[in-house]
Amino acid sequence: MEKIKVMSVFGTRPEAIKMAPLVKALEKDERFESIVCVTAQHREMLDSVLKIFNIKPQFDLNIMSHGQTIIDISNKVLKGVDEVIKKCNPHIVLVHGDTSTTLNGALAAFYNKVAVGHVEAGLRSYDIYSPFPEEANRKLTGVITNLHFAPTKTNEKNLLSEGVNSEKIYVTGNTVIDALLSVVNENHVFEDKTLNNIDFDNKKVILLTTHRRENWGKPMENIFKAMIELINSNENVEVIFPMHKNPSIRKLAHEYFDKYSGRVHLIEPLEYVEFTNLMAKVYLIMTDSGGIQEEAPALGKPVIVLRTETERPEALEAGTVRLAGINRENIATIANELINNEESYKVMAQATNPYGDGMACSRILEIIEENFRFIRGGK
Ligand code: UD1
Ligand code: UDP
Repeated sequence: MEKIKVMSVFGTRPEAIKMAPLVKALEKDERFESIVCVTAQHREMLDSVLKIFNIKPQFDLNIMSHGQTIIDISNKVLKGVDEVIKKCNPHIVLVHGDTSTTLNGALAAFYNKVAVGHVEAGLRSYDIYSPFPEEANRKLTGVITNLHFAPTKTNEKNLLSEGVNSEKIYVTGNTVIDALLSVVNENHVFEDKTLNNIDFDNKKVILLTTHRRENWGKPMENIFKAMIELINSNENVEVIFPMHKNPSIRKLAHEYFDKYSGRVHLIEPLEYVEFTNLMAKVYLIMTDSGGIQEEAPALGKPVIVLRTETERPEALEAGTVRLAGINRENIATIANELINNEESYKVMAQATNPYGDGMACSRILEIIEENFRFIRGGK
């Protein structure tokens, strides 16, 4: 029988994490031929995920440069993925989420009349400038997608309200839970020395991450000031900040936190296995990340979201995350409540994870097969 040729395109850390279990499932399944094309919009942060999941891409566009703009990335991805598609003639191209790699990978497939499968489809903040440019990226990708793999019912509803054909939308759960369940382990010992020396039992350790473009500048300064206020007013609090590789974020972090080095630990981005096991050990997570809002509830960890909106309302409804915005005072007030009020903390920590059961990838494979006759015609 003819194998279904599936080409997965991804380039940043979160796409890699969420596509990795899908690539592994495709590789193992006789019905499919799996082709991986990484754009390497991220380099080290991508390579670290590829290594953990033992994925060896057949194509690596190696596009990352420092100071790259969205236009640079877009041009290189569109041209690079176009060339790879022409070489391999896949039946379907899978893209993930909402990055510049996602949109331009999908566009390259569309221009070649190859079917597009959008993994993590239907997330919406309804503010075109926040997250920027991701809200536009996912909407635009949706317009040229043939199969929409929506993690939740809410995502499905969003797509239906935009007129997407209901027969092409499938609620699958989020593949991030598939990835997470494969790496978190109660007995994990950290490779990172700083982490092994932290007293997780007696300190209230906060894990901080921030990288979003709309938070660059003043909002990020507000976040950092709130963190300093928290350590000054709570002597049992320590902060771990694995800094995103973006040089401007790192510079600002050093400016604010170097003088608090005993209480604020500035470290390199962690490998996925280290990071998820750290999430499982800390007291509280404060972040503007998308993926972390989905993972933390599965680990029973409350999340304070450092953004003015979220495209993950399920987590808000389930009570696993709270939206703090980017105002220093608000951030500090909510964090102080969770540090000092056990009841508030418990309510969040015990809420149920709304993002899936770890079976999203096997569902996606079945759906691709079911739709093979449409996909072949680029429909
Ligand atoms: C990108 C995505 C964003 C996603 C985020 C995940 C776009 C427009 N943005 O944002 O949606 O949430 O990734 O982290 O697609 N760098 C390195 N090494 C790396 C990775 C990054 O040095 O492994 C540095 C480079 O200097 C690079 C910069 O970080 O130029 C920014 O990377 P870029 O992909 O442009 O944007 P992100 O802010 O990471
Ligand atoms: N992550 C990681 N190491 C880190 C920080 C985050 O492996 O030091 C993982 C995290 O578990 C999640 C993903 O990276 O799966 C989130 O990536 P990011 O916050 O960069 O992007 P977003 O989800 O906001 O698009």
